[in-house]
Amino acid sequence: ELPKEVTINSKTYPVDAEWFNVSSTILNLTSRKLHLQKDHPVSITRQIIESVFPSPTYLSYNNLDPVVTTHENFDSLGFPPNHPGRAKTDTYYINSTTLLRTHTSAHEAELFAASKSPGYLISADVYRRDEIDKSHYPVFHQMEGARVWDRNTVPNGDIVAAVHRDLDALPKHEMIIEDPNPPFHPERNPLQPSHTPEEAEAVGKHLKRSLELMVAEIFKRVKESHARAGVKEQDEEPLKVRWVEAYFPFTSPSWEMEVWYQGGWLEVLGCGVSQQHILNDAGVPNQIGWAFGLGLERIAMLLFQIPDIRLFWSQDERFLGQFRGVEGNLGKLRPFVGFSRHPACYKDVSFWLPAGSTGAAAAGGKGREGGEWHENDLMEVVRDVCGDVVEDVVLMDSFTHPKTGRRSFCYRVNYRSLERTLTNEEANGLHERVKGEIVGRLGVEIR
Ligand code: PHE
Repeated sequence: ELPKEVTINSKTYPVDAEWFNVSSTILNLTSRKLHLQKDHPVSITRQIIESVFPSPTYLSYNNLDPVVTTHENFDSLGFPPNHPGRAKTDTYYINSTTLLRTHTSAHEAELFAASKSPGYLISADVYRRDEIDKSHYPVFHQMEGARVWDRNTVPNGDIVAAVHRDLDALPKHEMIIEDPNPPFHPERNPLQPSHTPEEAEAVGKHLKRSLELMVAEIFKRVKESHARAGVKEQDEEPLKVRWVEAYFPFTSPSWEMEVWYQGGWLEVLGCGVSQQHILNDAGVPNQIGWAFGLGLERIAMLLFQIPDIRLFWSQDERFLGQFRGVEGNLGKLRPFVGFSRHPACYKDVSFWLPAGSTGAAAAGGKGREGGEWHENDLMEVVRDVCGDVVEDVVLMDSFTHPKTGRRSFCYRVNYRSLERTLTNEEANGLHERVKGEIVGRLGVEIR
């Protein structure tokens, strides 16, 4: 059943049975490249953001291969060997050293080494085994951005002055910004030993201002589209962003940016001052700079008010038709108008884990040994059998038998197509197949 090799974007890779976990559903999506599909909202969003980071300072790389090495995706960035993100439950592997990138940061090392410009942008499809709900899909699109300054080429070798000059040249913006934390913090967000406080502070300021300008541009487009659609101004929320301290193995200090949206804070990106070892390893030890990574679907959902991440994969004309012509003319950008919601139909499944399986990581917990139960494996089976007709899968109940210690779970699978009404027979048929597959593939026992 298992192939000896797989071909992705016309390159062939040997498959290792112990590691291979990429279903055909996922393999088929490697050719879609929504970020390059004309008039697709992900592509429109990419272009609006690219316009805020213009050439020749920034060059865009939009065709990098999704298959990378564990070295590129993890080791080169300083992920420790036991980092949970490396687990087979979280990452799609082809063999022990080859995987589908989980983030665009996988290309940082090669681009810091090779980029012809002080800044670069990478837009690409990324892959993560994950839960099933409105804002998670195992394939999504990220944009990575980076900008460096070279101690050897800035006037007088003065990085701080050079960064400030570039900062002053950036346009101004008006928005409410919450940024309560110091530019770095000895425990929570440390300065790197090779950076002066002034350097880290200047680079961090340039990073934050650049990303605030990006969000300001998105919201300018949202306002224009609202005006076109007749949304009243008093119904609009003022633009508000906040900076939250964060941790990434490949930046320090690090932050996440959150945007106030529909009554809550929405995380839209991670960023920070690049770890010097990455630049050193790339052969440019005299450079210092920043990097960010953002989720294009998240921003596109804000831009167009798209309510469900599954919609981005729709080939339905009622979806795609709403964006036609926008790529060449942003004056046509309008809020997405949802088509009628079709009825949902949920079905529960209860099962015992295989004897000896602890299920400690069941409810989203990370970090596990091979062979143990993980919820993401169930999610993968559901996607495989049902494609995009499942809206979410929710843990309803768990139980440990007092005598045997055996664990059982009850999950609710919510069947709802974005495009048509599912019949109860159809949902029943899917549900029976889901049950059969989880018994066959995960070794559980239906209760
Ligand atoms: N790669 C990170 C992620 O996917 C985001 C990031 C990019 C953070 C660059 C810092 C710098 O979550």
